[in-house]
Amino acid sequence: MHYKLGLIGYPIQHSLSPWIHEQFFKIAKLSGSYRIMEIEPNASFSEELEQMREEGINGFNVTVPYKEKIIPYLDKVDENAKLMGAVNTVVKENGAWIGYNTDGDGYVRSLESNFPQLFTDKTANVLLVGAGGAARGIYYALIKAGFSQIDIANRTKESAENIKQLNNGKINTCILTLKEAENMLSKYDVIIQTTSVGMKPHSDKSIIQLNNLKTGSIVSDIVYQPLQTEFLKQAQEHDASIHYGHTMLLFQAQAAFEIWTGTKAETGTMDEELINILQGDE
Ligand code: ATR
Repeated sequence: MHYKLGLIGYPIQHSLSPWIHEQFFKIAKLSGSYRIMEIEPNASFSEELEQMREEGINGFNVTVPYKEKIIPYLDKVDENAKLMGAVNTVVKENGAWIGYNTDGDGYVRSLESNFPQLFTDKTANVLLVGAGGAARGIYYALIKAGFSQIDIANRTKESAENIKQLNNGKINTCILTLKEAENMLSKYDVIIQTTSVGMKPHSDKSIIQLNNLKTGSIVSDIVYQPLQTEFLKQAQEHDASIHYGHTMLLFQAQAAFEIWTGTKAETGTMDEELINILQGDE
């Protein structure tokens, strides 16, 4: 079988996903292609999807701004993606399009790959900074993975409260303002920056200051352009262990590839290669 895969979104001409999936095809020794299928905002979304159906696409990723918009066009949406209210992976099964969301699980895979010790007892005290779609996915995936101490800091408390509902009262989550989080940072073993603050061209911005980090904490940023965000620079100055944003990109792709092909392809040397590609762009 030759897999016909791709990515819809806008703008996506510079996406790294085609490169990542080409590597997965090689590693898994499978035949397939993965192409950019950009849909412009003024195009007819339904006509573009119809054309993809006619072309016999086996599966595709969905990125900004279509992760929510795609939902009514799918034949089925898996429970996790329903809870997220967003789909990033679609697979064709027996002619039906089924939507999944691998962002949160991909993040957790990336964390485990870099810090396996965190997953031995799962007692780490975790702080999520931000309460958008990415935070929602990561929060839910961390709970599924067995973590039970996860707090959320956000500019707007309501969105954090909304994410907290996902846990059905099973774990205790404190909602903090960004200032409160800054002051209480020493409480946390893992701090995860989940917003786009600090992304190019606003690379000088950091959503919170990291002066109160405790020694030995892990600091993570989902932004990968630039790779070395202001947030991570500050973390490094305080001798934190760093978890870079490109690893979430890599592992959400691994999870999507698994859904399409049934094969879990190892990431091999892609982590280092992505660093080189991204640093070349800076
Ligand atoms: P997505 O859903 O793609 O993750 P989003 O809905 O834009 O992105 O949400 C991103 C997160 O970034 C939110 O937590 C947002 O805070 P609010 O809930 O208060 O809007 C946060 N965010 C974005 N820009 C910010 C800024 N300049 N300062 C602080 N937080 C910011």
